Amino acid sequence: MSVSRLATLIRERQPCVVLTGAGVSTESGIPDFRSQTGIWADIDPVEVASIDAFRRDPARVWEFYGRRLGMLGDIRPNAGHHAIAELQRRGLVEAVVTQNVDGLHQQAGSREVVEVHGSLATAVCPACDARVPIAEVRELLAVSPVPLCAACDASLKPGVVMFGELLPVAAIDRALSLARSAGLVLVVGSSLEVWPVAGLPLEAGTFAIVNLGPTTLDDQALLKIEAGAGETLAAVVAALG
Ligand code: APR
Repeated sequence: MSVSRLATLIRERQPCVVLTGAGVSTESGIPDFRSQTGIWADIDPVEVASIDAFRRDPARVWEFYGRRLGMLGDIRPNAGHHAIAELQRRGLVEAVVTQNVDGLHQQAGSREVVEVHGSLATAVCPACDARVPIAEVRELLAVSPVPLCAACDASLKPGVVMFGELLPVAAIDRALSLARSAGLVLVVGSSLEVWPVAGLPLEAGTFAIVNLGPTTLDDQALLKIEAGAGETLAAVVAALG
């Protein structure tokens, strides 16, 4: 019932923009943040994922992100990523706005992917803005707790948006423009706790949510499906024939 209702919403309320969070990647083996088994259940994000923590103790921040990089080594997209890419191939999804930094939507073949929280694919130099591919960063981390910029010797920073940092302007502007002109925003796997991204569904006005557990916008959603992203989105693709 709810899968067919979501299929109808996607078909009738075009363009559809998908907004994803960590919950779309848990089926690929990457933990989310705020569910019972999430990363923040036993780590304080302020200590490892804030710009103040990076300035205060870059080694502690890289110890955390080095472990996250280790998790990303051989991950693969799951049924949820593939379903979203298939909907895009069929012209039923215009773009994907993601809070995730794992690159799995691109690996699954999604074309326009707007990474509003940056990406772990590169590290950046806060002093001279150099970009360093993560393979090079892994080599630097093998010999030093903090990778240094080859150009200016400053401590490199993971290429993700940290708490206390502004979002990349081009990405959030694109995400806002997509949401404002969307007929439907489909939220998949996000608690919608972190602003300004959590406000994107409200920019569209009409949105649906596929999420295990509550989100902050459940009561305003056209439809809320409390089920796994992979099975639900695969069923939606099948229902759309
Ligand atoms: N299917 C559907 N929902 C799932 C699945 C799944 N297989 N696995 C987990 N979920 C749900 C969780 O129950 C949770 O409600 O996905 C949601 C993920 O929410 P968060 O862990 O808060 O992740 P997210 O919303 O992406 O967090 C936003 O917070 O820490 C920052 O920068 C980080 O981008 C992240 C931001």
